[in-house]
Amino acid sequence: MTLSSLKDKGDTMVIAVANDHGGTLLKQQLVEQLLDRPGIEVLDLGVGEESPSVDYPEYAKRVCTALFTGEAQRGILICGTGLGMSMAANRYPGIRAALCHDEYTARLSRQHNDANVLVLGSRVTGSGVAAALLEVWLAEPFEGGRHQRRVDLMDA
Ligand code: RB5
Repeated sequence: MTLSSLKDKGDTMVIAVANDHGGTLLKQQLVEQLLDRPGIEVLDLGVGEESPSVDYPEYAKRVCTALFTGEAQRGILICGTGLGMSMAANRYPGIRAALCHDEYTARLSRQHNDANVLVLGSRVTGSGVAAALLEVWLAEPFEGGRHQRRVDLMDA
């Protein structure tokens, strides 16, 4: 099974979320936001509030694994800058992790890149902006067409 062949589970989309110690508070905020939306289930893969310093690649791996196994259809990763999480996640074939700082990139990450993982930096993106980015990222469809060819080329 390839990631691009994964379809939403009926009317429900499962979103796997994970963070390092820098992203716990923003993760909690975004999980609440997700749970307010009908048709979305959240698979929270840690790390929790009381955690000491942890290694972001381990948490990126958890979300990528959930996409590969089909447990989740999309993912969200949060660390301090978003850099480590996006670098780690994009090592996995089929993962298109988009580090977004503004609504334009969040929108285009879906329309053109079919991003299946949203990455945020809790130390660089405020809570209000992060909430808006998440709404855009969830709402925007992939445009397909010439963008599908380019997405396919990334995994070729
Ligand atoms: C942790 O201090 C920090 O390095 C991490 O959250 C992230 O920003 C790494 O890219």
